[in-house]
Amino acid sequence: MATPNPFTEQLIAWQKVAGRHDLPWQNTCDPYRVWLSEIMLQQTQVSTATPYYLRFLSSFPDVTALAAAPIEVVIEHWAGLGYYARARNLHRCAQQIVTVYAGSFPDSVEKLAELPGIGRSTAAAIAAFSFGKRAAILDGNVKRVLCRQFGIDGFPGSVTIDRKLWTLAESLLPERDIEVYTQGLMDLGATLCTRSKPRCGDCPVAAACIARREERQAELPTAKPRTKVPERTATYVLLSDGHRLLLERRPPSGLWGGLLVPPEGEPDQVAARFGLQLGEQSKLPALKHTFTHFKLTLEPVLCRIKPHTDLGEAGLEWVDIEKAAQAGVPTPIRKLIKQVASAGG
Ligand code: ADE
Repeated sequence: MATPNPFTEQLIAWQKVAGRHDLPWQNTCDPYRVWLSEIMLQQTQVSTATPYYLRFLSSFPDVTALAAAPIEVVIEHWAGLGYYARARNLHRCAQQIVTVYAGSFPDSVEKLAELPGIGRSTAAAIAAFSFGKRAAILDGNVKRVLCRQFGIDGFPGSVTIDRKLWTLAESLLPERDIEVYTQGLMDLGATLCTRSKPRCGDCPVAAACIARREERQAELPTAKPRTKVPERTATYVLLSDGHRLLLERRPPSGLWGGLLVPPEGEPDQVAARFGLQLGEQSKLPALKHTFTHFKLTLEPVLCRIKPHTDLGEAGLEWVDIEKAAQAGVPTPIRKLIKQVASAGG
């Protein structure tokens, strides 16, 4: 038998005396209860999840009852927990347990992980708590504990670090007491090895902790690298006759497809493009807008043009300045137009 890692032994010993033992989903091996609690606890804290868990159990005492309930009723019970895909997957999972597994949860991590809403870590937690299987969990809290204890640098969301952490998590599994060990990892991450202000003084594995030794608790786990989003600056010409603005309808596809936008470009280029004669020009304050994939700095120039300018086939539309903000214009453009309105057209 392999010698257990001191981390594993110390964690088990600590869980037995100082861990949590009276959470509503503990002291049961019922896979339905374990599964329900693990799904609720995926993105929700114990204190928030607890009343939901109890209400779910009283309305849906077993997987058959949950599978038979209308989805609307399940969603109502979930209301307030957020991440509603979890509720839909929960219901679909219950139905698969009934139809595919005749109402009994499978006991293997692999089969559990095939079910809706159950990832590798949740499957391992269910298999460990319900069936005593030696399986490694690796949720956000556990990643933090392992990165700190073993001094693992690099963003845990990257493929390389993720693989390294799974391998490490599996190498630490005890030969027995898997339930205690699994709960211990969860308890340590939730109560002592917290993201900010970890309580290292009370930690059972502080002596060997690399983050603690190097005083790098705040740096580990490594934060997600900030990807530099491309930045672009564009000039928008706000052509005003004092009451109205000339806006251009964007082509149906692409940024702001089909919406009304002031012509983009330097005032002289815009004038040439549309055959306009420009009067007085003034720069308005620039405005920044963040899209999903880039940042745009909008530099507005307010230009006066004569009220009776012949637009011909220019493809421009007059829009009342007061009403333009409500017309089909994108948010940052609406902000530019408000500036024009407050600058007095
Ligand atoms: N977080 C995820 N699973 C948990 C569990 N079984 N007990 C406490 N917190 C948890």
